[in-house]
Amino acid sequence: MNIYSINITFAQPEHAVYAEQICQLIYESALQRGTGIARRSPDYIAAKILGGKAVVALDGERLVGFSYIECWGHGDYVATSGLIVDPEYRHLGLAGAIKKKTFELARTRFPFARLFSITTSLPVMKLNTRLGYKPVTFSELTDDNEFWQGCEGCCNYDILMRNNRRMCLCTGMLYDPKTPLAKQSWWRPYAMVVKNWFKKVFHLK
Ligand SMILES: CC(C)(COP(=O)(O)OP(=O)(O)OC[C@H]1O[C@@H](n2cnc3c(N)ncnc32)[C@H](O)[C@@H]1OP(=O)(O)O)[C@@H](O)C(=O)NCCC(=O)NCCS
Repeated sequence: MNIYSINITFAQPEHAVYAEQICQLIYESALQRGTGIARRSPDYIAAKILGGKAVVALDGERLVGFSYIECWGHGDYVATSGLIVDPEYRHLGLAGAIKKKTFELARTRFPFARLFSITTSLPVMKLNTRLGYKPVTFSELTDDNEFWQGCEGCCNYDILMRNNRRMCLCTGMLYDPKTPLAKQSWWRPYAMVVKNWFKKVFHLK
């Protein structure tokens, strides 16, 4: 299997036929991981696809990956959610490519919004970090009730509510378009090489 044969694209209306399969993939993966997941109905997923708020990965006619975005707090925030890769297509870098495309979709459609994601998944944390997301407490995320109500289908919902929505098992991650990217000095990579060399030679920890 080769990632280059897979087409990762902004979802078009005709992709709504995959909604049921996407829900099934998300549900089965959540059961397998034994972690919580905000359950989504096929109608909800189809609405995202029809609204131009989703990314699909296709191997020919076969749907092998998906993700979507949603606005919250009157457009101040956009959540990237529902990332899923077909188990047969994992560890090829597909999630990374879908995440990038979803990020592109969110930045194009909502250039001034803060992007966020809540997740228990290490791969997702890694990918978000590469895109410039930072871990934050839930207080930094949207206070839109509807977003948090979406967690109702998660098996950890009681934990979220017990903590007045301030914390749960998920890590909140935020990309703020207003935060300037840290400027890399030209000499930094050279300093790292010298530092590592010193550590190696002098057996420093
Ligand atoms: C999480 C998931 C999307 C990753 O898909 P994938 O296509 O296999 O991921 P990639 O190949 O793009 O890998 C991305 C990074 O995560 C790492 N990774 C992938 N699966 C991993 C795992 N099970 N444990 C730890 N790291 C993992 C990869 O090594 C890679 O890191 P690297 O770039 O530093 O090498 C996929 O396993 C999945 O669909 N899981 C079920 C649904 C889910 O958990 N969604 C997230 C809900 S928030």
